[in-house]
Amino acid sequence: MQVIEATEFGTSDALESADRDVPEPGPGEVRIAVEAAGVNFADIMQRRGHYPGGPEPPYVPGMEAAGTVDAVGEDASREVGERVVAMTQEGYAEYATADASALFDVPEAMSFEEAAGFPVQFLTAHNTLFEWGGLEADERVLIHAAAGGVGTAATQLASEAGAEVFATASTEEKLDLAERLGADHPINYTEADFAAAVDDATDGEGVNLVLDGIGGDTTTESLDCLAHFGRMVSYGAASGQPGQPDTGTLLFNNHRVIGYHLGQAVTRDPGRVLGAVPDLTGSLLAGDLEVIVGETFSLSEAATAHQYIEDRKSTGKVVLTP
Ligand SMILES: NC(=O)c1ccc[n+]([C@@H]2O[C@H](COP(=O)([O-])OP(=O)(O)OC[C@H]3O[C@@H](n4cnc5c(N)ncnc54)[C@H](OP(=O)(O)O)[C@@H]3O)[C@@H](O)[C@H]2O)c1
Repeated sequence: MQVIEATEFGTSDALESADRDVPEPGPGEVRIAVEAAGVNFADIMQRRGHYPGGPEPPYVPGMEAAGTVDAVGEDASREVGERVVAMTQEGYAEYATADASALFDVPEAMSFEEAAGFPVQFLTAHNTLFEWGGLEADERVLIHAAAGGVGTAATQLASEAGAEVFATASTEEKLDLAERLGADHPINYTEADFAAAVDDATDGEGVNLVLDGIGGDTTTESLDCLAHFGRMVSYGAASGQPGQPDTGTLLFNNHRVIGYHLGQAVTRDPGRVLGAVPDLTGSLLAGDLEVIVGETFSLSEAATAHQYIEDRKSTGKVVLTP
């Protein structure tokens, strides 16, 4: 079967097509004939060698795979032909194995491309906003990279929950998308200081919650526009730099900075992470939420897909189709 291998740590050129044997599902696992593999920013961090505990080259990237069950391992209560999406490993491939207990059903009304955009980004968005961030309906939230994968999910969820949404992005097109998805205050941070924009719009009160997947200076500036008793959920470092909150400022303002990692959390506390899944899938099927699939590339174009995200051209989810 065709797979994509990261042959070394480095640029997107390190991603190459390769042939590997079709994997056999172990006990409790299924094999999925992959129709769409999700691309996540974490795939890029891993390929750069900047992801703590990430795989060593050569490896097959890919944390999400949607398709049909193609083979069922011992003791796995699934049927061949079922439409599923899984958080998996080695998803950039024609076939991938996954734990049968970690599958989500994909209704006929949902495409495999949309399904591949669901688990990582919608669970991260829901968890960071609500289970970790404690967002309430009458609160204000600042969402960075609001037109991105997690950002498009978080903007919709926060808006649907009745919060006032401040959304940052780097272009007007991205901000138009964020606004369509429910952002009340779109901010082009390349043209305006986002902390000053939040300050102006809130008469200096600030926001109650920040979702920070950027790190670096964005973390510091975001804390500047956090209201007293406010929370920041730190869940990524797309800038390449971790955020460095000043604990003196945190204590004076009664601020909380909360870390979030989906993979670690789902292993240790699956109920807390996955509790929202029935509501999320219900809302997606009812059309109250949408998975924004910004671009689809063939599996062979995985390097182009990575570069597309790194160049900040992407909106919503980027998907690979074998
Ligand atoms: N902790 C977890 O479990 C978890 C789960 C999922 C994702 N994440 C993290 O969440 C963040 C978003 O992930 P995603 O997959 O949804 O990606 P994404 O938001 O679709 O893409 C990243 C976006 O970040 C912004 N950005 C700011 N500085 C950047 C830089 N130096 N290089 C590239 N992009 C930059 C860009 O938006 P603008 O052009 O609008 O600035 C870009 O489009 C990432 O940090 C990712 O690692 C964490």
